[in-house]
Amino acid sequence: MTIEDEDDLKHLRAIGRIVYETMILMSKQIEVGMTTRELDQIGQQNLEKYDARSAPKVTYDFPGYTCISINEEAAHGIPGDRRIEASDVVNIDVSAELNGYFGDTGGTFLVPPVDPKMEYLCQSTRKALRQAMKAAKAGARINQIGRAIERTARQTGFVTLKDLGSHGIGKSLHDEPQFIPNFYDKSDHRVLKEGQVITIEPFLSTGSEQTETADDGWTLTTGLGNFSAQYEYTMVITKGKPIVLTTL
Ligand code: CO
Ligand code: CO
Repeated sequence: MTIEDEDDLKHLRAIGRIVYETMILMSKQIEVGMTTRELDQIGQQNLEKYDARSAPKVTYDFPGYTCISINEEAAHGIPGDRRIEASDVVNIDVSAELNGYFGDTGGTFLVPPVDPKMEYLCQSTRKALRQAMKAAKAGARINQIGRAIERTARQTGFVTLKDLGSHGIGKSLHDEPQFIPNFYDKSDHRVLKEGQVITIEPFLSTGSEQTETADDGWTLTTGLGNFSAQYEYTMVITKGKPIVLTTL
């Protein structure tokens, strides 16, 4: 969507804050031995406290409230019986709706003892997000987002997951502009507009550049032994820096 008035901004900030708070709350409760279902319940309770509804549940009938993806899983992991183990790479993605407005945020969290290579993967992915946000200005081509992400991945020795990407959001979870790739597509002539609401969510990966859908029909996996990280903010495009909505 494109913001039309202060009321739009107010509602988007409200749900942005809720999803961000929920993700941070969940990340702080991660413990070795807990199941991803238990972690999801913490997210569910926090969303319900605000009367916010899980976006993947209401939009796609996803079998969980939040997406929790571990190690070789990149995204859309279903909360369940999998137990969190030492040194796991845990991605939590929280998206939700309140008063007809959607927010979407995600982050990757490392369970101690932390492998320095995973720390570097996470740092590099956060850098990719910062670089992409610098490129995301009204009037710029949308493909500058993927260009910044791909460049950061290359500079830090990682690759990107090419079938995952950022997206428009607002009055639905996935809105115009659809799919904004994690790589530079020079044939993509779309231009960012002032007031447009989008996510930016780089996925950096240690080797795989594609995901596969697991037998559960949801989880996107990158293959055993591969790791990926993702950080996601929902934001409003301006002529200068984007306004981040998923913040406290
Ligand atoms: Co998300
Ligand atoms: Co998203």
